[in-house]
Amino acid sequence: MKREQWGSRTGFILAAVGSAVGLGNIWRFPYMAYENGGGAFFIPYLFAMLTAGIPFMILEFTLGHKYRSGAPKTLRALNSKFEWLGWFQVMISAIIAFYYVVVIAWAISYAYFAFTQAWGEDSNAFFFGEFLGLGDDSAPSNLGSLQWHLLLPLCLAWAATYFATYRGVKGGIEKVNKVLMPLLFAMVLLLIGRIAFLPGALDGINWLLEPDFSKIWDLKVWSAAYGQIFFTLSVGFAIMLSYASYLPEKSDINNNAFMTVLMNCGFSILAGIMIFGALGYMANVQDKALTDVVSSGVGLAFVTLPTAINLLPAPGVMGPLFFLALMFAGISSHISIAEAVTTGLMDKLGWSRPKTATVFCSVGLVVSTLFITQGGLLLLDLVDYFINNIALLGSCLLELLLVGWLCRLQDFREHANRISEFTIGGWWAICIKFVSIGMLVIILFSNIMTAFKENYGGYSNNEVTFIGWGMLTLMLVLAIIINLSSKQERKI
Ligand code: PFF
Repeated sequence: MKREQWGSRTGFILAAVGSAVGLGNIWRFPYMAYENGGGAFFIPYLFAMLTAGIPFMILEFTLGHKYRSGAPKTLRALNSKFEWLGWFQVMISAIIAFYYVVVIAWAISYAYFAFTQAWGEDSNAFFFGEFLGLGDDSAPSNLGSLQWHLLLPLCLAWAATYFATYRGVKGGIEKVNKVLMPLLFAMVLLLIGRIAFLPGALDGINWLLEPDFSKIWDLKVWSAAYGQIFFTLSVGFAIMLSYASYLPEKSDINNNAFMTVLMNCGFSILAGIMIFGALGYMANVQDKALTDVVSSGVGLAFVTLPTAINLLPAPGVMGPLFFLALMFAGISSHISIAEAVTTGLMDKLGWSRPKTATVFCSVGLVVSTLFITQGGLLLLDLVDYFINNIALLGSCLLELLLVGWLCRLQDFREHANRISEFTIGGWWAICIKFVSIGMLVIILFSNIMTAFKENYGGYSNNEVTFIGWGMLTLMLVLAIIINLSSKQERKI
């Protein structure tokens, strides 16, 4: 049977941008930039984008296009000893899919609450206490009871992903992204357009952009920039490989990769302006210093911003708009994460798309309910820490080592150049073989040291050992078992 294909080039680029632009751009990038030198952070960030982001994206598009399969099969084609890495990547995607969807479910609920600011005056107590039901004794190993009111939004979030992955690349994923992406950009621009005129907003934006050049000499700032680039671009864990495996024969790989990366990073800057504008306004109204209101992650989106929304003019319009934007950014990424698993399984097991999507999304829905319990947030936090700081970066590093040092990198460059409008030079191989790998080694090493030195987030020894390290070990063992069994199969 002929492999599915994207219906248009725009469709593919929007889907790739949809994958890259996610919660990370909205709640991770602005804080990261602010903390690591403000405007000066753009120097390491742009450097990381050019020397790691774009080269890695070109590589994944090339591999997907050349081998036309998901991660396990592609990595096996590169080197038969490395199929396990493909499965490891599929597992990373599966686990991220299980918890990322929960944040989308929260955003769905909050988009609804935002019409009336149902979170009230004390958004902190509302979010952690009333909404999540987090108790004093909640812990990753003490999840407590299911929060039933979160089940409906969770089902809705999975339904969106199911619809897209079931319908396939052209009929589902492409269509959804063609609607969500333009809407997302328009909504963020609209929000910026209003927020920028509020008192204090420009001071907030200034805080974000004001360069502190002394930070440029700090290695930590450079690691943060490279870490953010790998995270934000969805490279190194099966996603872009899968998407590119559906590219038609004639595809301008180099140009597509540049556009995807530039749109993603451009969106991050827009998101930064939106968030810091809102924070600046909030600090102004509350007569506080910006340092007292600035935050990131879950706290920013579900505690700080609801308070800021309370203070905005027309909160019943701006609030839903913000949470809809968060939802759209999340859903388009979640679809890509689920598709990475679906493609991997379909290509390997020979199942049909509807069957694979149905099995994965149903299992996914059941597993995700773990994260809508009273202690769900804490479990999510711990799992996310190990996946992002160790598994994901480790997988990026191994993929680059394999491609850069065990394969003929030159072949891939030629493949990309043959079908692209503009060609890439020798710098590409240097970026992959030395710069990206070097930075990954430094970041990963320091992350592993930190994880060993102190229990992340104050979780207990048992939790960190069994849930954190245990999960990583289990993933590795499972990946190797699948690899061995597929070797057996081929022998028979
Ligand atoms: N790139 C998306 C984001 O920044 O939210 C998707 C994503 C990447 C999600 C990496 C999760 C992740 F660990």
